Amino acid sequence: MCQSMIQEEIEAGKGVLLSGWGEMVDLVVSHGKGAVFWDIEGKEYIDCTAQAWSLNTGFNHPRVINAAREQLYKVTHIRSTFYSLPQLRLAKKLSEIAPGEGPKKLKRVTFCLHGSVATEGAMKIALKSKGGGQFLALFNGYHGRTLGSMSVSWPHPTNEFLPYMGNVIRVPAPYCYRCPFHLEYPSCGLQCADFMGEAIEKMPDGKTCALIMEPIQGNGGQIIFPPEFHTRVRQICDKFGILLIYDEIQTAFGRVPAMFACQLYDVVPDIIVYGKGLGGGFPVAGTLSREGLAKFSAGDHGFTLGHFPISLAAALENLKVIEEENLLERCKRLGDYILKELNRMKEEYELIGDIRGCGLMIGVELVRDRTTKEPATKEAQDFVNEALKRGVLFGTSRYAGLGNVVKIKPPAVITDEQADRALEVFEEVLKVISKSGKPSLIF
Ligand SMILES: Cc1ncc(COP(=O)(O)O)c(C=O)c1O
Repeated sequence: MCQSMIQEEIEAGKGVLLSGWGEMVDLVVSHGKGAVFWDIEGKEYIDCTAQAWSLNTGFNHPRVINAAREQLYKVTHIRSTFYSLPQLRLAKKLSEIAPGEGPKKLKRVTFCLHGSVATEGAMKIALKSKGGGQFLALFNGYHGRTLGSMSVSWPHPTNEFLPYMGNVIRVPAPYCYRCPFHLEYPSCGLQCADFMGEAIEKMPDGKTCALIMEPIQGNGGQIIFPPEFHTRVRQICDKFGILLIYDEIQTAFGRVPAMFACQLYDVVPDIIVYGKGLGGGFPVAGTLSREGLAKFSAGDHGFTLGHFPISLAAALENLKVIEEENLLERCKRLGDYILKELNRMKEEYELIGDIRGCGLMIGVELVRDRTTKEPATKEAQDFVNEALKRGVLFGTSRYAGLGNVVKIKPPAVITDEQADRALEVFEEVLKVISKSGKPSLIF
């Protein structure tokens, strides 16, 4: 097809899309391989976002593509009321690698296509298990964009949706760089955990059925909680008899140096929600829950296209890739290396307020002044644009957080050379943004 025809098609498509994503990055992606993708002009980018932190094994991993291709020629759609081999094999594998032991093992599996729908699945399991009740969620948490999952997420500015969202009590999370109680860890004694207990006792109109939280907040600004917070949360849930749901949609399957982030903290939740990284680029999400919690009955949580055999076959192979290519180890080694380099940059560039990282889930919080911690939000957006010009895609936190965190979350298959190039660009752009910010503090 000639270039002018393609351009015509692009403009026509852009003209009719009812965008679901606010401002789009004006870039049409053509193809990808490993940690790199190309736009339709042929320009190459190192992707430090793994496409919304999903492609942990990179673009088009050959083994994942082969598994999908083999399934493609067998059958592409099966109604959810039938079994299929990919579904049963993946369910078995997930229940084997799931956290927990004995009766606490999270061995019951559900599948759907989107993380948001999986979040709602977890909410339904909690509601059915506890006979209803309210949810507890953390400030700045993010759990999806369906109405149910939005209700437990940090309020979205689109207030028109609010009448359809409710029954949620929100409590402060330990965002220690900007402590909601203006205290310092560890001398604070984790007041946020104490407050959570009080909130469960005093705030809900009726009973609370579950706490839903991300083990590491992604959209909220890449917030890593003190390990002790996780232990306290488990104790609080046990004390009040409420379920603990970990939303591991971002953290599971190779983003942090463990299959599930809860394993880093030695905490076994009652339900895990997963998605993103499992499918190796194919849509699949779901829940893992422990024996003894409610099961779904007909009509509770079934979706016409939710049993997508190609995704399920791809996901099974993707898990093998994570294990056999030692990607969890690689994730740790590269993550530690990137953090070390960033900490070196922090000595030199005042723009860096805080660096938070766990494996390849890294955020750099930019501030205009290290004392006042004024968020450098515009600078963070400029940062991403400048890096993009230089062929590296970084992410930012936009919705729940302050928008001033630059994220480095590449696929675990990123090569050492690509990681070094991304860091080189990171420093180059820090220089540019720091210079442009200094003479005129006009923001
Ligand atoms: C922690 C978390 N939960 C839920 C979701 C929603 O997943 P999806 O976009 O697949 O519906 C996301 C997506 O960014 C997420 O990061």
